[in-house]
Amino acid sequence: MSAEKNRVYIFDTTLRDGEQAPGASMNENEKLEIAYALERLGVDIIEAGFPVISEGDFNSVKRVAKHIKGSVICGLARSIKKDIDAAYEALKGAKHGRIHVFLATSKIHLQFKLKKDKGEILQMAVEAVKYARNKMTDIEFSPEDASRSEKDFLYRVIEAVIDVGATTVNIPDTVGYSIPGEYGQLIADIKNNVPNIHEAVISVHCHDDLGLAVSNSLAAIRNGARQVECTINGIGERAGNASMEEIVMAIKTRSDFFGCTTNIKTQEIYRTSRLVSKLTGFVVPPNKAIVGMNAFRHEAGIHQDGILKERSTYEIMRPEDVGFTGTGLVLGKHSGRHAFKVRLKSLGIELSEDELNRAFDRFKDVADRKKQVFDEDLVAIVEDEVKVVKDTWNLVNLVTTSGTNITPRVEVALECKGKTYKKSSTGDGPVDAIYKAIDGITKIKGELLDYTIQSVTRGKDALGEVTIKVKLKGKSVIAHGASTDIIVASAKAYINAINKVIAED
Ligand code: KIV
Ligand code: ZN
Repeated sequence: MSAEKNRVYIFDTTLRDGEQAPGASMNENEKLEIAYALERLGVDIIEAGFPVISEGDFNSVKRVAKHIKGSVICGLARSIKKDIDAAYEALKGAKHGRIHVFLATSKIHLQFKLKKDKGEILQMAVEAVKYARNKMTDIEFSPEDASRSEKDFLYRVIEAVIDVGATTVNIPDTVGYSIPGEYGQLIADIKNNVPNIHEAVISVHCHDDLGLAVSNSLAAIRNGARQVECTINGIGERAGNASMEEIVMAIKTRSDFFGCTTNIKTQEIYRTSRLVSKLTGFVVPPNKAIVGMNAFRHEAGIHQDGILKERSTYEIMRPEDVGFTGTGLVLGKHSGRHAFKVRLKSLGIELSEDELNRAFDRFKDVADRKKQVFDEDLVAIVEDEVKVVKDTWNLVNLVTTSGTNITPRVEVALECKGKTYKKSSTGDGPVDAIYKAIDGITKIKGELLDYTIQSVTRGKDALGEVTIKVKLKGKSVIAHGASTDIIVASAKAYINAINKVIAED
């Protein structure tokens, strides 16, 4: 990849470092779905996984490499042959492949983790890059914990790996320890002290332990970094990685300051964020910059007044530039199928006839209960109704009784292959009672690991979206359900989880 001077390459590691976030694991199909979304978004490099780590990781990198042709596909490897071999095997079907080799360079890692001296580390790094370069031309090297490494040693390692063919050198702030001025200076120092640095792209990779990952990445860009490693919604190991949407929109909104561009189609940001949130089960906080539900909402009267007079008084970005169209009223109960289809298309959602019919039936049902149907509702309806797997179990009927002084009691009816099954149950709360009844009908016992509920839009009649993580048949499954009734949404989420695990069997 030849570097254009003012172009910042976006390296997305949602599928690798993002997946390292505790509880964020995704299956192969989900990873491929995200990879397609990242390609559509215009990501330059997709880090699809760490192939040596598991058979699942290997297979998903291989699948992403086979299907995604518009982005470079990257696989991570430690500086050892078996890792590099696995990365190469997984990536060899890619149109553009990259092996990303890493090795720690900080004193603390050398002494306690690797138990090696500087000479040995230098040699290992050089041999690993040489070995990888014999297999592929696009090689990235990361001196792990670079920001806590001795600068002179760091320069020596960087120079040596470039000499043997590294095309990108990535400078990780592995533990999120850096401060923007200091990290920006590190990049400037690398530029000034590594004689062959112009032969490689300088990349940055920041973690958010001090909440500075985005600021550090931007400081690095100001000082000459031209690749940024980041994740959608900032998910990742511990406090996460730098958030892609924040970096991209900072570069775009403050192009006067950065003088750089990216290849990202920013209108795809919101949709990609929703998808990652849906598949990982990590709910986006309402106040999250760029993609949070409140990011473009103005509550204060003075602000609303200003916006009505001139948008730029209180808005530095247009919501539609990040694909956030959910401010206006869109459809109501009198809207027809055609209007529904056209509106979905404008949101970038295209469905098959069968999917459209199912989604439209659900829309009518929601429109009957809810006065105003917003774009966010439509997205939730489609995500809820149009599933990749054909449902085995469907909710037919649900009656709950609960209150302050009674034991919650439910009656659940589910349909499977044309037959209806009923069960009553009690529980600690209505959700507990429903899940017990569903376990009884399906004969699959689930263990609820996590439960969150979020309203899709505002107002008392808003759709509630329930996201759960359940252990079923030894697997941890993330599933969602949406309804204007949160108890029904809870039941749907659980049934979706069961259907998902049956489909994966
Ligand atoms: O944080 C880190 O140092 C990493 C490397 C493997 C690049 O994720
Ligand atoms: Zn990392």
